[in-house]
Amino acid sequence: MVLTKHQQDMLDGKYGKGKAMAMQIQTAVGEGFSARRMVPAARVHVALSAQEADTWFARRLRDAGAVCAVAPTVNPGYCLEYFKGLGFVDEASSALMKETEEVYRDLGAILSYSCTPYLFGNIPRYAEVVSFSETSASVYANSVLGARTHRESSGSALCAAITGYVPEYGVLLEENRSGTVLVEVQAHMETDFELTLLGLTAKKIGGGIPVFKGISKNVTTEGLIALGAQLNVAGACDMFHIPGLTPEAADLRQALGGRAPDRTVIITEQDLERAREEYLPMPKSKPEFVMLGCPHYTYRQIRRVTELLEGRTTAADIWILTSAADKDLAARTGLETRLKSCGGRLLADTCVDQAACWGHLAGKFGATDSPKCAYYMQTFGVELAVQDVDTCIRWALEGRIC
Ligand code: F3S
Repeated sequence: MVLTKHQQDMLDGKYGKGKAMAMQIQTAVGEGFSARRMVPAARVHVALSAQEADTWFARRLRDAGAVCAVAPTVNPGYCLEYFKGLGFVDEASSALMKETEEVYRDLGAILSYSCTPYLFGNIPRYAEVVSFSETSASVYANSVLGARTHRESSGSALCAAITGYVPEYGVLLEENRSGTVLVEVQAHMETDFELTLLGLTAKKIGGGIPVFKGISKNVTTEGLIALGAQLNVAGACDMFHIPGLTPEAADLRQALGGRAPDRTVIITEQDLERAREEYLPMPKSKPEFVMLGCPHYTYRQIRRVTELLEGRTTAADIWILTSAADKDLAARTGLETRLKSCGGRLLADTCVDQAACWGHLAGKFGATDSPKCAYYMQTFGVELAVQDVDTCIRWALEGRIC
């Protein structure tokens, strides 16, 4: 890989040990992928996890004197103040969350604590080269916004923030961004949850860059977020195209880069049913809680839940995770008060993959509209059924499966 003088000086330690460490990691990754050069990263999002290995890595860079050249937004850990108040967090976990915040602040990160930075505060522009980690974020940036990012890890994105560069390979290059698999969607595809199910058919789609034919032009932002998140979780997908909808796919021909697809895959109602059976278990008993907001719910989704609950009181706890920006909007418009009066709780800065604050749910049975949420929470003993949000809320209101 050919480096500029500035990049070589960084690698040689002229700008300190921390920057040199980050550059060493990035050049090794770049060489692994046969990158020819490093290019500037205009924006960065780091999927901070507030878990031991992640904080250890960030701490090592901070202690070696690294400061970010591009201030990154960061993923949620959990709202320490809120969960400590409930008595749910032990001293060791509390110390780790505090230290994570301190380390990332020292590095110069923007402590946004949201997994949907592309909606608020860190919105990539068309064709901009960025370095985004987090499953929904990298796919959304590539597909819906037309920016260019690898599917970064939290570590590689943090290195990009520190050096200000990324190795150029993969979907950063124009020639690698065309669709390779034509996916003819014959299944009904109107709701956000149907798009979630479509994302779960990633195994049948089988890798490459899918071009979806047959998706309604009325698809919502939230539906696109759900599709990208599940495609990435279930199939390590960099990006997708929807002709007439995503910016690099004015029509089918452009989406496929003027070439014939490597293969054509047809997705039917039966495929969605199979995905449902394989990934979405039905509840074994009545749900004791509902967990929504993985990825973080938008204002529109919070309003939808409030409308479903309005005038009634829930028999199960309802947690909705969102960004600080959307929580603030919900507070200003009175939505949060309406939600609370029905028993719903709106939480900012928090991720579902945090045993430190959700450990008290271990052994309980809940419901969610996010397969990703169910996957993560079962790793610390919380079982969740996955259904569309209307069903989750109906179960919570009735206090039974219905
Ligand atoms: Fe967001 Fe955590 Fe889910 S980062 S997407 S709430 S696993």
